[in-house]
Amino acid sequence: MKWVKYIVENSIIYFAGIGLYYTYKNAPEWYEVVSNKLARKKEEIIRKLPIVEKKLESIKEELAETAFEEWEKSFDKLPENGFSPSDIMNLTETLPKNNEWKKGKVSGAVYHCGDGLTKMVGKIVCDNFWSNPLHADLFPQIRQMEADIIRMCANLYNAEEIAGCVTTGGSESIILACKTYRDIGIAQGIEKPELVILDTAHAAFEKAAELLGMKLIKVKTSEDMDEPNWRDLETSITENSVLLVGSAPNFPYGNVDNIVKMAALADRQKIGFHMDACLGGFILPFSENPLDFRVRGITSISMDTHKFGYCPKGSSVLLYRSRELIHSQYFVNTEWRGGIYVSPTLLGSRNGSIISGAWATMIYFGRNGYENMAKNIIETTKSIVDKLREIDDIHVIGNPNICVIAISSKQIDINEVYDFMIKRGWNLNHLQYPNAFHICITPIFIKNNKEKEFLDDIMSAIAYTKNTPNDEKDKLGTLSMVYGTTQKIKERSFIKELGIYYQDLYYSLVTKKNKNK
Ligand SMILES: Cc1ncc(COP(=O)(O)O)c(C=O)c1O
Repeated sequence: MKWVKYIVENSIIYFAGIGLYYTYKNAPEWYEVVSNKLARKKEEIIRKLPIVEKKLESIKEELAETAFEEWEKSFDKLPENGFSPSDIMNLTETLPKNNEWKKGKVSGAVYHCGDGLTKMVGKIVCDNFWSNPLHADLFPQIRQMEADIIRMCANLYNAEEIAGCVTTGGSESIILACKTYRDIGIAQGIEKPELVILDTAHAAFEKAAELLGMKLIKVKTSEDMDEPNWRDLETSITENSVLLVGSAPNFPYGNVDNIVKMAALADRQKIGFHMDACLGGFILPFSENPLDFRVRGITSISMDTHKFGYCPKGSSVLLYRSRELIHSQYFVNTEWRGGIYVSPTLLGSRNGSIISGAWATMIYFGRNGYENMAKNIIETTKSIVDKLREIDDIHVIGNPNICVIAISSKQIDINEVYDFMIKRGWNLNHLQYPNAFHICITPIFIKNNKEKEFLDDIMSAIAYTKNTPNDEKDKLGTLSMVYGTTQKIKERSFIKELGIYYQDLYYSLVTKKNKNK
């Protein structure tokens, strides 16, 4: 019986060993799953507490009261009989409107370059109103214009090979780039491709990872937001990584990442490197440090024609270093009963008129036009940065020298400064982690000579924050913003629930009548 005892004892050791090996091997994933489940459970319990329920309801009520103006004439169903064109025109006069942006006190958002250009582009857009590049045989002019836009952008970025597409905006360009590298990774046998970004990259990368089922690795940048932690960045790249992302510049702080070093790292690791130049795509080539395909390691670039390209909203360009790369982006269905279907981007049918408007705008400005505009934006940005740096109580984050300036403070409550600016009619972007706000300089800011007014208002805001007794100040909580709006949410917890509620309000799914649902 000695041998039975021997087998039993050794089997226990053997199976315990295997158990330990697999527990250890999968430990990080296993730990992540359990801790996520626990965190969700904890949130569920807290959410059900009457005090939390009451607080959230009161915030929702406040949001419903203040977020949007409801048009008294809104349509709940199709009108029984159609309206005449003149009645429609009269009706649109009564819609809620806000023309404040024309005064130039808006951060980014509107890249307007005069009514003359709007009129000319509007005419071309109107002429191509019914066009759809999906039907290139019916709209040969749109195909030509789209190909021209891609060639002009590739040339601006010193591409050796022409490979790119026109998309509907920065987010689509980013999602498509991520899809390309994901598919290349999958073809190489990577089961769950990973995307590595800095925590200053645009939210569209997180959206892309969520949509595409990619694992997102976010690397912290240094306190002043200009450099990543290089050791963390290097160790974040694993055998599952397919793409590293750098911004030029990033949205929150307007800082250009160390693209040369990051692209070299990606090159060494044999993964893709996407330079997100959505925001500064038409400024960067004319800056002190132009970055383009001549930088080794950059494999794709996104640049938004609908921002500093001054083209109609709904256009962006995604460029690749090679045609081989863009082939992983195209969708080709050879088996569809509707025929062989080829589609280069996310959408099927697209609005050709926007492409025609973008094309007209680009040849209207030409290289010199864009250079002059870019130099003006850069000069104004630098001038404001220099003056802000002379003010003791606030801090300019990083080293912005393109178009965005972010301001924080360790001495005073920057949310109070932000709030004061909003009351003075400024439409600025509130930032979090750390609390701060930014302004993105556009041509309407410059045309309306807003530099002095902006700086004067900042000084007044600081004086107000420092000198007004707390009980006389408007009540301010910790501010947080739903992306792209100036709507305040004072509580940090359950922000997601409030974000969803805000979006419901936007679609009028919740109105003042049923605001608590
Ligand atoms: C750096 C950067 N990337 C991407 C985007 C997303 O662009 P869009 O809003 O056109 O989708 C933005 C928008 O501001 C941006 O600033």
